[in-house]
Amino acid sequence: MVNQAPQGKLGVLIPGLGAVSTTFIAGVNSIMHGQTAPIGSLTQMGTIRLGKRTENRSPKIKEFAQLADLKDLVFGAWDIFEDNAFQAASKAQVLTPQDLELARSALEKVKPMKAVFDQDFVKNLDGPHKKSAENKLVLAEMLMDDIKAFKKANRTSREVMVWCASTEIYIEASDVHSTLEKFEAGLLNNDSRIAPSMIYAYAALKSGVPFFNGAPNLTVDTPAIIELAEQTGLPIAGKDFKTGQTLIKTILAPGLKSRMLGVEGWFSTNILGNRDGEVLDDPSSFKTKEVSKKGALDFIFQPEVYPELYQDLYHKVRINYYPPRGDAKEGWDNIDIFGWMGYKMQIKVDFLCRDSILAAPIVLDLVLFADLALRHNKKGIQEWLSFYFKSPMVAPELYPEHDIFIQLTKLKNTLRWMMGEDLITHLGNEYYAD
Ligand SMILES: NC(=O)c1ccc[n+]([C@@H]2O[C@H](COP(=O)([O-])OP(=O)(O)OC[C@H]3O[C@@H](n4cnc5c(N)ncnc54)[C@H](O)[C@@H]3O)[C@@H](O)[C@H]2O)c1
Repeated sequence: MVNQAPQGKLGVLIPGLGAVSTTFIAGVNSIMHGQTAPIGSLTQMGTIRLGKRTENRSPKIKEFAQLADLKDLVFGAWDIFEDNAFQAASKAQVLTPQDLELARSALEKVKPMKAVFDQDFVKNLDGPHKKSAENKLVLAEMLMDDIKAFKKANRTSREVMVWCASTEIYIEASDVHSTLEKFEAGLLNNDSRIAPSMIYAYAALKSGVPFFNGAPNLTVDTPAIIELAEQTGLPIAGKDFKTGQTLIKTILAPGLKSRMLGVEGWFSTNILGNRDGEVLDDPSSFKTKEVSKKGALDFIFQPEVYPELYQDLYHKVRINYYPPRGDAKEGWDNIDIFGWMGYKMQIKVDFLCRDSILAAPIVLDLVLFADLALRHNKKGIQEWLSFYFKSPMVAPELYPEHDIFIQLTKLKNTLRWMMGEDLITHLGNEYYAD
């Protein structure tokens, strides 16, 4: 099971050169030059306990799992705007001009390729830097040519693709997404239910490249693309980076549940003013985000198992576009809880967060874990990476695991299992006499 260390360069292919992806690239550069620590990145800072507690073996995850070194990452991207990553990052205004200046040469190297874009799927956005072709299959082939050219130019030994482009409108899986055969026919017939993100995913998997989805779009969460991933033996994962409010929700909710405290209401509202916020101002894109954000509490609280505590939970999520805040989002939560003898209490959370600062380390970890999964021949849905997603993909017969602490245990045990180490159950009987 244990695989060799990575050899050669790892290509990181990113649809969407916006706030998240440019912050990610600038941060990797700054870490490599020793200007900052990789804060927020489990792969870089996290350790993993091996064996008994008395053994004192806790290597860094990146060393234990033989993850690719940051110096071996090479970046490629697509966007509907021609701006290179430096220009895009300057417009996104996440990082200070001083931090951007330090990363200027690394960012300027990343010039986006022409995007596959359809405004029917992102209503509040349009740009000039787009491919055009007679049908969606030809568009996919054009993306495959881009990937081939990128590999050649950068002499990469393997590549991964992470979707960091705008949130597409809400669609449900339908007949055209039900089998690979129907999906391929749909590409040829320009089926209107095939979104641009699906065309990228198809092109990636056809090119031997894993595809991970950082937005809430359906994208790879369809039987057709899962079939393609199985057939090509490649990893896929999604959906929607777990940052900000949902991160806090999946930290707090398991704690309340662990003490059997009831919850009757959870009202969440956000204001944000970046381009993502502008895209989400369109109700059809917001719906995709809303569905992704709302699932977590139901799965954590299990109202069907604990009806007295959670069956009446009223959960509301709002996102409001408010330009003055830019990328510095504010997320408020009002949580109405009840305890012993039904007495009511309230919790208020006001998270003054920075969206892309929270998302960038997730992109890094997912890139490195996608590559690890690729080198370990792990094909199909990578449920062990649920830790990173608001709406984790799982096998059709399973419910998704949202509890962040269970997700972390699952992730670490998967790494132990991949590297041939004993799993840790936290039983601990062996330390005490009978
Ligand atoms: N920042 C977070 O905390 C966070 C969390 C979860 C999910 N996300 C998701 O990550 C994505 C990126 O967020 P962001 O803040 O960087 O947004 P952004 O608007 O700054 O960047 C998105 C970029 O994608 C480009 N784009 C849109 N459609 C495209 C296409 N079809 N092909 C190529 N490029 C395309 C846009 O032109 C834009 O430059 C969004 O979907 C967002 O919902 C972000």
